Amino acid sequence: MEKIVIEGKNRLSGEVSVGGAKNAVLPIMAACILNDGENTISNVPDLADVRTMMKLLETLGARCEYTDGELLVDSSTINRYKAPYDLVKTMRASVLVLGPLVARFKKAEVSLPGGCAIGERPIDQHIKGLRILGTSVQLEDGYVSAVAEKLEGTTVPFDLSTVTGTENIMLLASVCEGETVILNAACEPEVVDLANALNLMGARIEGAGTDIITITGVSSLGPLEGYSVMPDRIEAGTLMIAGALNESDLLIRNCRFEHLGALTGKLLQTGTKIEKNGNSIRVRGTGEIKSIDFSTLPYPGFPTDMQAQMMILMCVADGMSVITENIFPQRFMHTAELRRMGADIKLVGNSAVVRGVPEIRGAPIMASDLRASASLVLAGLCGAGRTEVSRIYHLDRGYEKLDEKLQSVGASIWREKE
Ligand code: EPZ
Repeated sequence: MEKIVIEGKNRLSGEVSVGGAKNAVLPIMAACILNDGENTISNVPDLADVRTMMKLLETLGARCEYTDGELLVDSSTINRYKAPYDLVKTMRASVLVLGPLVARFKKAEVSLPGGCAIGERPIDQHIKGLRILGTSVQLEDGYVSAVAEKLEGTTVPFDLSTVTGTENIMLLASVCEGETVILNAACEPEVVDLANALNLMGARIEGAGTDIITITGVSSLGPLEGYSVMPDRIEAGTLMIAGALNESDLLIRNCRFEHLGALTGKLLQTGTKIEKNGNSIRVRGTGEIKSIDFSTLPYPGFPTDMQAQMMILMCVADGMSVITENIFPQRFMHTAELRRMGADIKLVGNSAVVRGVPEIRGAPIMASDLRASASLVLAGLCGAGRTEVSRIYHLDRGYEKLDEKLQSVGASIWREKE
């Protein structure tokens, strides 16, 4: 295993580029199950999760090739409908093959995704949607076993906003006879990217990005040709926080400002300077970081995937900040590690009360999940002295060479064998 070592407090300056969005490319890869052709997708980040999804598709019989951001998925040879536990347990997003497999084979067996460090990850809404569309679903021996008698489009009312739940139903409904209307759909940009890709395959989806999505089923879908994945708004946001620390000055390229409204609004309130510049964002930190309160919400609210990263900035801000986690109430594993660096954080229910301190100090700390690991790297950047972040396989699931990107703008950061 590897660890990341950081000598903190360097002022960063220069340009960094954002890669393709993990949470957009994963459902788009699953969508390839719906057709029988050679799908080509570009701007695909080289992430562990992308490799896992490739392995899962290959387990189902597909042929996948990845070189330099270009991904080929030949789905013409897919001939299995069972997603095994050993793959699903490493990546929750594997649940996204459930809808497409039911569409293709009229049956599917997908291992129930386990929980993870950010909490119990139920899929009851996914199952509710499948059943409403005409699939009978049993939970047996840790697997979701689905069999579709008669698939028919209809109204699918979600009880809450679920990103992969919306995506799973959109995937299945795109080839279900009739019209499906998803109510209380997730509005995340990644849902829109999936809908755009499906429409290029020949699907008829309207309303993606709003809470009501209408899908008119078609009999078959063709392959994707050269679809470019949207930029990763969470990687962009993580780099924005890096720009706000240590009075840094970063130009973040290839990002969509319109995807970052809630984070930008909160960062401006801390006194951070932010300028939109075409498809780049310039972020400059100031000596004075004001403490602010924020709560995570479904898009377009403050993203839960940015909660841990923003907490780092609050740890060295000038007052008290109340951070409320409404999506994954247990998503505070990073706080224990930050306390080891001298951060003053108290957990109260699903909130963290952070009192800013003049300085946090480097220490050996341990990553627990993807976004927490990114926040610990950011903590190392602003911690005085040396920080060692262990278990960084979590980081590599969702960030492509984050350490190298930070090194290129002046961070003293490198990898070592654990
Ligand atoms: C997606 O997860 C993302 N993953 C997550 O990013 C992200 O944190 C999350 O959306 C919220 O934005 C991918 O897109 C692959 P949800 P997902 O279903 O779809 C509850 C990362 O770091 N819920 O929108 O699994 C659930 O417990 C990852 O990139 C049910 O109760 O999240 C949560 O409280 C982490 N029943 C809330 O809804 C269900 O059937 C939102 O979850 C489904 C969800």
